[in-house]
Amino acid sequence: MSSDCLPFPPGFLWGTATSAHQVEGNNTNNDWWAFEQRPGAIWDGDRSGLACDWWRNAERDFDLMAAMGHTSHRLSVEWSRIEPEEGRFDPAAVARYRQMLTGLRQRGLEPMVTLFHFSSPLWLSRQGGWRNPAVIGHFRRFVRHTVEQLGDLVRLWCTINEPNVYATLGYLYGVHAPGEKSLLLCFRVLRHQLQAHAAAYRLIHALQGNSQVGLVLNLQIFEPLDPADPAAALVSRVLDGLFNRLPLRAVEGGRLPFPLGLGITGYGPLLDSVDFWGVNYYTRQRVNLRRGPEGLLQTTPGVEVSDPRRDMPPFECYPAGLYQVLKWVAALGRPIYITENGLPDADDDQRPRFLLTHLAQVQRAVAEGVDVRGYYHWTFTDNFEWAEGWRARFGLVALDETTQARSPRPSARLYSDIIRANAITRPVVETYAPEVLADLFPGS
Ligand code: FCB
Repeated sequence: MSSDCLPFPPGFLWGTATSAHQVEGNNTNNDWWAFEQRPGAIWDGDRSGLACDWWRNAERDFDLMAAMGHTSHRLSVEWSRIEPEEGRFDPAAVARYRQMLTGLRQRGLEPMVTLFHFSSPLWLSRQGGWRNPAVIGHFRRFVRHTVEQLGDLVRLWCTINEPNVYATLGYLYGVHAPGEKSLLLCFRVLRHQLQAHAAAYRLIHALQGNSQVGLVLNLQIFEPLDPADPAAALVSRVLDGLFNRLPLRAVEGGRLPFPLGLGITGYGPLLDSVDFWGVNYYTRQRVNLRRGPEGLLQTTPGVEVSDPRRDMPPFECYPAGLYQVLKWVAALGRPIYITENGLPDADDDQRPRFLLTHLAQVQRAVAEGVDVRGYYHWTFTDNFEWAEGWRARFGLVALDETTQARSPRPSARLYSDIIRANAITRPVVETYAPEVLADLFPGS
């Protein structure tokens, strides 16, 4: 193999990921819209508003994706549109999703559809949302309807996006909807999401034989800042265990381990309930016990970090961590899609390097035999970034949300070049991020 080219497997899927509430606009009937109205909930009082105007015109971005050579797109459907009131489904919403999915297919983009990505219908949240075990049956009914209506257009399904982040940010830190701060609720919600995932997995397979159904987890590296500090090493292991391994182990072992189970040890439907793992990877967290609870998690001094985020430190750019998480997950023996990876970077001075170094780690894993089938960058255009509002700019394409004007950043062109070559090539690195040439092509 030429040392001037890092190739990806034939048929590797390339695209970006989005979620309904972040792009569609005017999703007024869900808990996030309500949360946005709370003073102080969102950075600078921002609102999702029209978002990226996808409900009216997602096709404008589908055209751009196709022109850029993308071969797939991961999007989510909004439960509150499909089932605006308990048990009542809206045929017009389903028709609009059919139009969007058909539009993707007509442009040569394979859709990957997530069934739950952070936003719940108001009728559900009035009943306690994901803390109430009734949610499992409600989710099942919603999934049945959605898969019956859209299944002929979708082969790749993700049941639930990042149950570990949803439970932590919404129910422990209280910075996402519904804004709760309780460790007990956090574990309860995580348990219900895993149970709902398992139910959805079985149901989708019963309805649609050729489907591939995955669960998407956010995986992070936790490491002590000082490797010689045994207490920090222990805390890192505990955080890794609770955040990353608990949901992985639950599915692999078919049980709800403590503290999820609270007595339920076996949970049959979870066993073998993924055809693929969706891996969302962003960062590494360093554990430091010397600065009190507020400073527990930090970045590594001297290492490149992203633009700042609200109430949280900027996040560390740690491409080797993507390789590490791919190796853990590969050991579980299922194919993998990288369902999200990206960084907030309004001026795009870091993203080209970020993209190249992270993809080089994916390629390294693939070259060692890890079955990675696709990569979805987060995200296509800047969008409503939850509690960060419009401040965190994750797009390959810059969006002016007041005029809806799109301007591709240099990274968008870089990504197209990689996709068209199905490889990282030396000229591409020389053009977009020569500073990483020696890392990517050592000895050259
Ligand atoms: C992930 C979410 C996604 C987006 C990115 C930046 O945790 O799944 O919606 O907010 O982070």
